[in-house]
Amino acid sequence: VDGIELVAEGTLTTCTHLPYQPFQFREGDEVVGFDVDLVDLVAEDLGLDQAIVDTPFDTIQSGADLDTGKCDVAAAGMTITPTREENIDFSDPYFDATQALLVAADSGIAGESDLDGLRVAVQTGTTGQSWANENLTDADLVTYEDLALLTAAVQNGDVDAGINDNGVLYDFASDNPDVEVVAEFATGEQYGVAVRTGNDALRERINEVLAAAREDGRYDEIYEKWFGT
Ligand code: ARG
Repeated sequence: VDGIELVAEGTLTTCTHLPYQPFQFREGDEVVGFDVDLVDLVAEDLGLDQAIVDTPFDTIQSGADLDTGKCDVAAAGMTITPTREENIDFSDPYFDATQALLVAADSGIAGESDLDGLRVAVQTGTTGQSWANENLTDADLVTYEDLALLTAAVQNGDVDAGINDNGVLYDFASDNPDVEVVAEFATGEQYGVAVRTGNDALRERINEVLAAAREDGRYDEIYEKWFGT
């Protein structure tokens, strides 16, 4: 399509890592979410259907999945970072995020300074893991492969706290009164849709669709659908 090479004809193949509600998660047989709707706009614009591939977050963020032709784009609530930009190209930012702290509702933990000597869950390959490595040097960090395992560990007491992005943790806490988000760490992150390094035709097309969707209200509709009250 218009100078854009695809890994599978007629399809925009998207790598993501499930579950990351409300950005991407299973509802019955379907994968739904904010990122899914946003990438659907791109697929639609190209006259393609979106096919979603669930793959470990670590090989998404390293660029391996894009480089080996597993997918055309990666949309995984993934933060744009200088290190990742060495291995993948990002679209313009589409969502703001910051790291946050999830604890059991009655824990008494209020923030960073309460975590020394405690078990703190982080997710493999994420910016939350990097942040915790740098800032929680006196905590006992425990790594989980996905968000559901991390939140379950907080709920069942395997860990004292969990670190992940504010959007997903607030979403989880709103459905689960036994946990709460007690702090945010102002990491100033922004999510981008990723393409293989040098795939400018596709990256520019994504940027055009994002800009148009922000302009004509489709972005706000999608935002409202997944974050509205
Ligand atoms: N925003 C964080 C990062 O980029 C976490 C993303 C995790 N995404 C996922 N689909 N599991 O590192």
